Amino acid sequence: MANRLILNETSYHGKGAIQHIVHEVKSRSFTKALIVTDKDLVRYQVVAKVTNLLDEAGLPYEIFDEVKANPAVDVIKKGVERFKASGADYMIAIGGGSPIDSAKGIGIIINNPEFGDVLSLEGVAPTHQKCVPIIAVPTTAGTAAEVTINYVITDEEKKRKFVCVDVHDVPAVAVVDPDMMSSMPKGLTAATGMDALTHAIEGYITKAAWELTDALHLKAIEIISRSLRGAVENDPAGREGMALGQYVAGMGFSNVGLGVVHSMAHPLSAYYDTPHGIANAVLLPYVMEFNKEYTGEKYREIARAMGVKGVDEMTQEEYRNAAIQAVRQLSTDVGIPPKLSQIGVKEEDLPALSIDALNDVCTGGNPRDCTAEEILEVYKIAF
Ligand SMILES: NC(=O)c1ccc[n+]([C@@H]2O[C@H](COP(=O)([O-])OP(=O)(O)OC[C@H]3O[C@@H](n4cnc5c(N)ncnc54)[C@H](O)[C@@H]3O)[C@@H](O)[C@H]2O)c1
Ligand SMILES: [Fe+2]
Repeated sequence: MANRLILNETSYHGKGAIQHIVHEVKSRSFTKALIVTDKDLVRYQVVAKVTNLLDEAGLPYEIFDEVKANPAVDVIKKGVERFKASGADYMIAIGGGSPIDSAKGIGIIINNPEFGDVLSLEGVAPTHQKCVPIIAVPTTAGTAAEVTINYVITDEEKKRKFVCVDVHDVPAVAVVDPDMMSSMPKGLTAATGMDALTHAIEGYITKAAWELTDALHLKAIEIISRSLRGAVENDPAGREGMALGQYVAGMGFSNVGLGVVHSMAHPLSAYYDTPHGIANAVLLPYVMEFNKEYTGEKYREIARAMGVKGVDEMTQEEYRNAAIQAVRQLSTDVGIPPKLSQIGVKEEDLPALSIDALNDVCTGGNPRDCTAEEILEVYKIAF
């Protein structure tokens, strides 16, 4: 079987990367940007870091700042109207996964108007046209939405999040600058960083994983586990590492899929607005435990990448437990609570959450096939 790899056309990495935006806009002959972002990022002057450069270069833009975390269908619809009214011919998405995902949805609908209801984009939508060109500038180090072919929308009416997978939505340019992330508070750094670790681990053990994505995911696990504690303390090396590590994870998982940590996390955000990274972080060690018999020697490499010593001398049981323990320790060190009951999940909802998780698009990628009853069991243990 042949494997497929889709990435950005161009990406920039490291401190100062945003300086390249002006050149990219000019060389692509773009004329006017719709900046897709959220109000907090405008308020904290994070957006200004980019608009100052556009202003200096005399490049026109308008700002659409109505994105909210876990963006809903109506935000996409509003963005589409705003794009049409603006006369823009490209977007600059500035933000975490929510603004970047919103820009993808907006850009897809502009060029594929038959999907204007948004809901019909769920899963693998048969779009024919590439989305409006996006320059994606992440301000969190987690989702890697700047390089993935996925976006996640919330259907508020049905209290569910749905994943859209579409090769036409990948941003043309990613600008991954740790300076855009330096204003993140500790809790957000921890949560989004654990999302990135979850991508790397689920992408490494997912069914469609192959040699090239294994290399990316292992490298991502290594960089993230050495950088996240520092990033939470706002140490520049930690920020730089997380900016890169989360992107490398995205290069991998976007092309092979994830697993039931994400399936189980999505309903928590839909029900309780739980931040995506927190939901993943709490669930990750429990799902690793559930999956461990179906992962061959991979947990040995996870443990090694996370800095565990002596993994070659360990039995299978020992290295599997060591990998799970290393994840637990990192999660604890960055302040993530260990139980779902501590993040607002209600016990009586667990059966309904299990059904939604089973139906999530990420479930098919899990190394162990599972039933709703098994997912419920994992939720109960994690509760
Ligand atoms: N496209 C993908 O492949 C993919 C992968 C995983 C998750 N997601 C989705 O992405 C969304 C989550 O994205 P996220 O975790 O990056 O957070 P987010 O974009 O939802 O932002 C969360 C909050 O953090 C604030 N924030 C962001 N950057 C900041 C900064 N530099 N300084 C201060 N505050 C900042 C925002 O203003 C917002 O209030 C979810 O909807 C999730 O399902 C998408
Ligand atoms: Fe994620």
